[in-house]
Amino acid sequence: MKFFVDSADVESIQAINEMGLVDGVTTNPSIIAKEGKDFEETIKKICQITAGPVSAEVVGTKADEMIEEAKELAQWSSNVVVKIPMTKEGLKAVSVLSKLGIKTNVTLIFNVTQALSAIKAGATFISPFLGRLEDIGTDGFDLIHSCRSIIDTFGYKSEIIGASVRSIKHVEELALAGCDIATIPPALFDNMLTHPLTEKGIEQFEKDWEQFTK
Ligand code: E4P
Repeated sequence: MKFFVDSADVESIQAINEMGLVDGVTTNPSIIAKEGKDFEETIKKICQITAGPVSAEVVGTKADEMIEEAKELAQWSSNVVVKIPMTKEGLKAVSVLSKLGIKTNVTLIFNVTQALSAIKAGATFISPFLGRLEDIGTDGFDLIHSCRSIIDTFGYKSEIIGASVRSIKHVEELALAGCDIATIPPALFDNMLTHPLTEKGIEQFEKDWEQFTK
């Protein structure tokens, strides 16, 4: 499974990349706003850190607006993927953009028919949102398993990005479900990589080595 970083924090992405863990990056308007820096500059900096797909989202709501924005975003770097919301207008845009060879990530997917429609429209990536489904008491993993099964049954090419990831359990279960990608907030990488018994083990090794070499 690939790891994307769900963030526009350039320093965090750089630090995670130094451990060889960045296969791509996802952003959305809220993530960009949180960083408070220029959108274009931020995306271009991220594209210099990773050669993997970097999702930048459109803000227009009409297909024509999204297509124009997408063409502009795709110019910023060859690894920019245009993130498009799962709406009827969004799918019109995806259908046109896929024919133009512009890669898309259809976001805000919450059920199987939305996923299937995005795939059929030509989405390069689909982003089912786990955490937000769980927030309303729905099991997000049913959706991930269904997406995996549909793509495998029909041989579709779209890749599944498990999004709205909130815990290391989510990451583990996405891998077990055969999800292509988990997009993970930087803070969660810290939880994924540390364990109290690892720390305790290192302390013990240091102590024993010190005794031995005294
Ligand atoms: C990524 O593509 C999504 O925009 C992101 O994972 C959403 O996460 P959230 O539900 O925690 O805002």
